[in-house]
Amino acid sequence: MNDASSSPLDWYRSAVFYEVMVRSFRDTNGDGYGDLAGMSEKLDYLSWLGIDAVWLPPFFASPLRDGGYDISDYTAVNPLFGTMEQFDALLDGAHARGMKVVIDLVINHTSDQHVWFQESRRDPNGPFGDFYLWSGTNERFENVRIIFTDTEDSNWAWDDERKQYYWHRFFSHQPDLNYDNPAVHEAVFDVVRFWAKKGVDGFRLDAIPYLYVSDEGNGESEPPTHAFIARLRAMLDTEFPGRMLVAEANQLPRQVVEYFGTPDAPECNMAFNFPVMPYIFWALASGETTGLRGTLTELPEIQGGSAWGVFLRNHDELTLEMVTEAERATMYELYAPEPRMKVNVGIRRRLAPLLDNRRDKLEVANALLLCLPGSPFLYYGDEIGMGDNIWLDDRDASRTPMQWDASASGGFSHADPSSFYLPVVTSEGFTTAEVNVEEQRADPDSLLNWTKAILELRHRLGVMGTGSTRVLTTDHPSVLAFVREPNGPGVPVLCAFNFSENAAEVTISGIGPAGARLVNARGGAEVGEVGEDEGMALALPAMSWHWLTVS
Ligand code: GLC
Ligand code: CA
Repeated sequence: MNDASSSPLDWYRSAVFYEVMVRSFRDTNGDGYGDLAGMSEKLDYLSWLGIDAVWLPPFFASPLRDGGYDISDYTAVNPLFGTMEQFDALLDGAHARGMKVVIDLVINHTSDQHVWFQESRRDPNGPFGDFYLWSGTNERFENVRIIFTDTEDSNWAWDDERKQYYWHRFFSHQPDLNYDNPAVHEAVFDVVRFWAKKGVDGFRLDAIPYLYVSDEGNGESEPPTHAFIARLRAMLDTEFPGRMLVAEANQLPRQVVEYFGTPDAPECNMAFNFPVMPYIFWALASGETTGLRGTLTELPEIQGGSAWGVFLRNHDELTLEMVTEAERATMYELYAPEPRMKVNVGIRRRLAPLLDNRRDKLEVANALLLCLPGSPFLYYGDEIGMGDNIWLDDRDASRTPMQWDASASGGFSHADPSSFYLPVVTSEGFTTAEVNVEEQRADPDSLLNWTKAILELRHRLGVMGTGSTRVLTTDHPSVLAFVREPNGPGVPVLCAFNFSENAAEVTISGIGPAGARLVNARGGAEVGEVGEDEGMALALPAMSWHWLTVS
């Protein structure tokens, strides 16, 4: 475990992240909302599991009409979740355990309850008059797409007080800030400094492609947006070295990669790998690996010191925005047989239900996630295979209370479960009696203990975080193989996956030097020797994963 003060500046390259909304984890005061004190209480659990960094979605003052992504005060803790002292204690507690804390920076928009917006609508000529994008017509920027297709039919909303339209890319109660106004930049920098001074280790840049919109562009990844991020990064590097920025840019590969910036003007240290995620699910359901191999092979080079953030699920829908229309239709067929499972341009389900609660698939999915180039972000509850509730509003399906024990409340709170911010999952196969931390901790064969063990293995191998990746050729359509190669000490690891429901006899080419020995990284059994042609024949069981050291 690394000491927070002595960890390297690029700590995020070898970290395993864990996303959890504060309200979902543990309620200590019995009001039915998870709180910061509850997060502190559970740090030992996260540390036991092998988590290096926690990502907390917004816990700031907010009317909570978008899970807290509608912020009404950037530097105040939402009283439902606790106090600033409790946040400071959480940060200290995490750091004392060698764990980092990453928070969300939602700077594309605010809540309409934010004082900036209240002032802006009240007094067009006042100091906040230009903090938002106002217009007498709702016909500007017509080539900009709508993101929340289920709820919004325009990116403009009428304000009765100011008698103008304002611009919003998300819900109409989330007006977009006006980045053409330099005062907005300064206000945002102040927010970043506030949290950085406290010791927060990183920021997720929420909805970052949408900062600037122009008449010519489509409001996504426009050049001044990149210039702004570069300035933000420069400020952090100068004033708070070692703090990390991770981009939430749900964009095509060639666009996502721009969020790392250039050597002269670096932007984010990390960016979520949105393009690869849907192809993982594709392979798991269809046994076809072409799309997955393609995205991995074509993954653009990223500059030294940066890293991808890879994930299977998060607090949003499983987004299908970045796949072709035909692929999207197939994904809906495979994973959203019930209309209610769809939301916006995606699917509102959790990992375990998506994978039919099959242990072999859950292992393959997680093992792949943990050896992809970059750093993995786990989503709370997926380590025990929690279920979802598709009948809840919007994306709340997969934001239900964490299941700590077998009681009706799941050990989330001592309050009456009917008072919880969201009901505990009760669907068959996923009840608290069937899925909970306490029992899985006691069971050496549980998914939870499997997850802990593979995290340990990943940490021990070292190469997964900072090594490079070479995608290999196989002669089986359901087998994906690549080698992770260290950029320093350590040994290469051959990662192979059989997504087929049948066992596969496969030849993998280009593994490495003839005569190198392959050893199973879990358990240490010798698997064989690389042949004269640098390839090797392997027999892989149905739906299986293999991490083999090459030495
Ligand atoms: C991001 C968040 C999402 C939120 C949206 C608007 O996409 O992940 O939860 O609704 O931004 O802030
Ligand atoms: Ca509470």
